[in-house]
Amino acid sequence: MKLDLLGGLTPRAFLARYWQKQPLLVRGAVRGFRGAASRHALFSLSQRDDVESRLVARKRGRWSLRHGPFERRDLAAMPRRDWTLLVQGVNEFIPEADALMRRFAFVPYARLDDVMASYAVPGGGVGPHFDSYDVFLLQGFGRRRWRVSAQTDRRFDARAPLRILTHFRPEAEWVLEPGDMLYLPPGYAHDGVALDECTTWSIGFRAADATELAREFLNFLADRIELSGTYADPGLAPPRHPAAIDDTMIDRIAAMLDRIAWRRTDIERFVGEYLSEPKARVVFDPPRRPLGPGRFAAAVRRHGLTLDARTLLLFRGPWIYANGERHAMPRAARSALVALCDRRRLEAASASVAAGLPLLYSWYRAGYLHAGPPP
Ligand code: SIN
Ligand code: CO
Repeated sequence: MKLDLLGGLTPRAFLARYWQKQPLLVRGAVRGFRGAASRHALFSLSQRDDVESRLVARKRGRWSLRHGPFERRDLAAMPRRDWTLLVQGVNEFIPEADALMRRFAFVPYARLDDVMASYAVPGGGVGPHFDSYDVFLLQGFGRRRWRVSAQTDRRFDARAPLRILTHFRPEAEWVLEPGDMLYLPPGYAHDGVALDECTTWSIGFRAADATELAREFLNFLADRIELSGTYADPGLAPPRHPAAIDDTMIDRIAAMLDRIAWRRTDIERFVGEYLSEPKARVVFDPPRRPLGPGRFAAAVRRHGLTLDARTLLLFRGPWIYANGERHAMPRAARSALVALCDRRRLEAASASVAAGLPLLYSWYRAGYLHAGPPP
């Protein structure tokens, strides 16, 4: 289906031509969009200690960076020009931002990271830089001028508190109006400067770093590995140096370590658990006065249920991965649980939901989902 969001392209065509390849400017991507939240709401989020926020300012050519949480008076004391407030993970707190992020479901959820909102006064921005991830930059209220470059020159200012390219050579420039959107592939240099007071909504993606992935997998393996046997040396000869570690000792240990092995099923489990692991700062809020299992079942039958915006729920084969934990999907509940993964909501009861109720109830008690429609 052709999407206005992608400038009239089908997701398939967008992915083939632009995704991870080249920028795409879409005028009127989200018609009528003025931002998923007000300046006031973003300021309030930046005052919370469970929200990651940054304040970037430029004064006489020098950049400064401060991390939140901020106090109301910090923000009130800011000048009229040349600063921006960035708030990460707004999709977890603002239902409209979550709904916005879900419009990008033509990319797997496991690749979605979060929505970052920026509020800027005229002249505000984070300077010319590049990101390692794909990003869609959707303009809220006000205008922002974006300049971009395919340059491979990555030299940056070592003294600045954020990575600012020192040799930025823009090749294209656009002024984005409310609802316009710019897609940038990873590593594409860009610089967005607010022309008016404005907000920009960045739908960001995640891509595992190879070293981090390897480390995490080795940790996963470390918890599970079991090799039989113990070091043995029935053919031991008296050493010339009792303190020396000789070749035979190394050979014997090498032979033991050569038996470390893993199977595809280990990788599958690791990937499911790793990709569904919430960010470190996420803490779920279990219901304060939880319904009992019977009342929960009745509420779900009547009103359906909705995943908490912070919940990561993925599936593969007979397994469902909820916030880093693997569960077997009861066969009779499969269609309801898969629908819940994809749509993040179940409308109302079907026979299939009934078989999943014990699992759903445990997630309800953990705060992973809520009985009823979306907030
Ligand atoms: C911004 O919204 O100001 C920053 C977004 C970006 O350049 O990645
Ligand atoms: Co950027």
